[in-house]
Amino acid sequence: MYKHLQERYAPRPPVNVATLERMKADGEKIAAITAYDSSFATLVDDAGVDVVLVGDSLGMVIQGHDTTVPVTLQDVIYHCKAVAKGLYRPFLMADMPFMTYATREQALENAVRLMQEGGAKMVKLEGGGGQVEIVDFLASHDIAVCAHLGLKPQSVHKVGGFRVQGREQAAAEQMLKDAKALEAAGADVVLLECIPAALGQHITAELHVPVIGIGAGPDTDGQILVLYDVLDITAGRKPKFSKNFMVGRDSALDAVKAYVEEVKSHAYPGPEHCF
Ligand code: KIV
Repeated sequence: MYKHLQERYAPRPPVNVATLERMKADGEKIAAITAYDSSFATLVDDAGVDVVLVGDSLGMVIQGHDTTVPVTLQDVIYHCKAVAKGLYRPFLMADMPFMTYATREQALENAVRLMQEGGAKMVKLEGGGGQVEIVDFLASHDIAVCAHLGLKPQSVHKVGGFRVQGREQAAAEQMLKDAKALEAAGADVVLLECIPAALGQHITAELHVPVIGIGAGPDTDGQILVLYDVLDITAGRKPKFSKNFMVGRDSALDAVKAYVEEVKSHAYPGPEHCF
């Protein structure tokens, strides 16, 4: 019997794009988290997470940089390979690092490497209207794509810091327009970072594809957090939207289980985590 047929009839079959679409349709929240190695990949899988992102946040939490800009494709492939080995059920998404998708051809070549060498099932790129053509090209080659809007950490030097995006009406309208254009181009998932909760709700309601938020309010179809924030390992000032799930728990597994449970039950994020 083919492995994929065995998996289809398993009690908890692996998550894929169709699973995420069904979850949006059913109103079941998607619990996503980052991971960078095999041990944590297995732990977050055991905790019931639906989507795992090998984020370029690894540049900050693993490599000690101030931004994600120095992260290379090879770095993400290295960590993605390790994570893929530890996962069974969650859907594995990998970030395309800074300047690895500047042209359509470069984006395709690098997305293929993330999938073939890293084991990713979906690639994520930070994009506005300028990336519509790239998303369209990847989608036309049947590559699953997540478009990341709102705060785009790879643009930190251009934007002038890590700050909430889409507060002004014109910026909010542009973000909605970009999200719709990216969806029409073939994005399978949209990720919204650090935007007002009302805008997160509006964009989620307007899109057909699942929307995952980080600091985008309670009404997106799912939530994602950086694993090290959930476990309170990150040093220094924490973003307003993050939550330390280690409080009252004595294991990393219990903390990630609590995160999943709070996302699913709509308990996280609370008003104190929103803009
Ligand atoms: O790199 C990352 O971890 C991310 C999340 C913050 C969504 O893009």
